[in-house]
Amino acid sequence: MTTAIYPGSFDPITNGHIDVLNRAARLFDKVIIAVLTNPSKKGFLDYETKLNLIRESVKDISNVEVDSFNGLIVEYAKKKNAQVLVRGLRAVTDFEYEMQMAQMNKNLSPEMETLFLVSNTENTFLSSSIVKEVSMLGGDISKLVPESVNNYFNNLNREI
Ligand code: PNS
Repeated sequence: MTTAIYPGSFDPITNGHIDVLNRAARLFDKVIIAVLTNPSKKGFLDYETKLNLIRESVKDISNVEVDSFNGLIVEYAKKKNAQVLVRGLRAVTDFEYEMQMAQMNKNLSPEMETLFLVSNTENTFLSSSIVKEVSMLGGDISKLVPESVNNYFNNLNREI
């Protein structure tokens, strides 16, 4: 059984993440989407909200599990018997950061592979931070994020 981990902050999950996840789910028996919960990397959304939004967004992909992790990703992956870390690459600007992480993870755990999936062209401009900014300024993000995320941000905007 091949298991891959798709780790990230997912603050919030976007259609770019969902695209990477769908493609990883076709390559592996199981994909665990693992949300970082390190208190030092606190994001905009709290972890419960992130996890609930992700669960709702991926409920139709049968071989995907949603989980959270704290500490080193390679240790978490070992605990889950996963052999591969999946990351999405949007543009050359992602490359340096991703390369550094992949090499550090290889250094920490030589048997762990990082697999980069190149994002679809329509998602190259998409990021969680740009989605948050556009939504907070009243822009429409409905085509950029799963329905659950769009509803969540619309409700937030109504409350402000
Ligand atoms: O979505 P992000 O913020 O780019 O994801 C980064 C993430 C969570 C994959 C990365 O920060 C991570 O793996 N953190 C866990 C700590 C760790 O293992 N660090 C060593 C590898 S750089």
